[in-house]
Amino acid sequence: MAEAYGFSTLRVAAVEPLTSDSVALTFDVPPALAEEFRFRPGQHLTLRRVVAGEDLRRTYSLCTSAAGGPLRVAVKRLDGGAFSGWVLDSLRPGDELEVLPPAGRFGPAVDPLRALRYGLVAAGSGITPVLSIAATVLDVEPGSEVVLVYGNRTSADVMLLEELSDLKDRFPDRLQVLHVLSREEQESELLSGRLDRERLERLLDTVLVDVDEWYLCGPFGMVTGAQQLLLDRGVPERSVHVELFHADAPPPRARESAVSTGTCAVTVVLHGRSTMVPVAPDGPSVLDAVLAVRSDAPFACKGGVCGTCRARCVSGAVEMDVNYALEPDELAAGVVLTCQSHPTTDEVRLEFL
Ligand SMILES: Cc1cc2nc3c(=O)[nH]c(=O)nc-3n(C[C@H](O)[C@H](O)[C@H](O)COP(=O)(O)OP(=O)(O)OC[C@H]3O[C@@H](n4cnc5c(N)ncnc54)[C@H](O)[C@@H]3O)c2cc1C
Ligand code: FES
Repeated sequence: MAEAYGFSTLRVAAVEPLTSDSVALTFDVPPALAEEFRFRPGQHLTLRRVVAGEDLRRTYSLCTSAAGGPLRVAVKRLDGGAFSGWVLDSLRPGDELEVLPPAGRFGPAVDPLRALRYGLVAAGSGITPVLSIAATVLDVEPGSEVVLVYGNRTSADVMLLEELSDLKDRFPDRLQVLHVLSREEQESELLSGRLDRERLERLLDTVLVDVDEWYLCGPFGMVTGAQQLLLDRGVPERSVHVELFHADAPPPRARESAVSTGTCAVTVVLHGRSTMVPVAPDGPSVLDAVLAVRSDAPFACKGGVCGTCRARCVSGAVEMDVNYALEPDELAAGVVLTCQSHPTTDEVRLEFL
């Protein structure tokens, strides 16, 4: 089967168990692709495989330092998960996978001259981009410090434990790691229990102090709860960065529309070529309508979390069902997620990014 647009075929160099239900996957990057696969902290890869004609694409965050670390992701098995189950059960070193170059804007633009205190809060597999951010910041910004709070059920569930310990050994004065375990008693009562609002409040009063920039990644409830708590405590919105791996689809809702006809004329500019697609305001998303005629349209999650399907709306208007991927500055610049977009004017023009 031919590669999908934008994907490269990479060889899996290593598949290493991390816990009983997660593995680290390291890819070989041939010299010709080194530049394309250079990454920033907190970015992710989209992996693709076609099963019985179905195009499965899943996004996995890089978990190594962007300052020279290998191209590595960590995959946790999800019950009944089509892609994660296959990775854990069947993928072997030497196999090849289709991979999109690194993407995403979750991490900081690191700068050796900067001296900041970073507050990182992760739970479960949400450690992956957060570890990459911690490792890169510590490698590149000698004046910066990192406090990482990492929630899991038990110590056996802690992913990337060895990598966290190595980082702590390399930067004992600038990295603090606090493991919060919900189903295992620890010496400190503060660290035994769920990473809920009440516990985070207490951590904010004791160890997560004087933080300049926040990065949160984990299950929906934990991340949105922590984000709200920080905003309630007066932390500026621009300093709180969140990454979600999954969000349940919202219930259908009525949209405000200025559309006068049954379908809208949506023109998309994609890879230098423009195409007009008729899209019903209450029908499938703009992305699905575009994919019916342009298989080169970029996407992965189709759930509003990964940001792969971004486009700029340059004329007309669309309404998004949900947005968990775009930051306020992108929204202000007219960027939308096409997998969540429905036209609300007769004519719309979108330029894929
Ligand atoms: C930006 C980004 C970064 C990500 N990074 C990582 C990473 O580093 N490591 C990692 O293991 N995963 C990561 N994910 C999640 C990953 O892309 C897949 O969603 C996950 O592996 C499940 O895929 P699956 O095919 O196994 O499950 P599916 O077959 O897609 O789903 C099975 C069931 O679980 C639900 N579901 C899907 N994903 C999740 C989820 N994450 N949490 C809870 N329920 C879910 C589905 O609605 C479905 O009911 C990331 C996702 C995003 C958007
Ligand atoms: S495809 Fe993931 S946000 Fe649209």
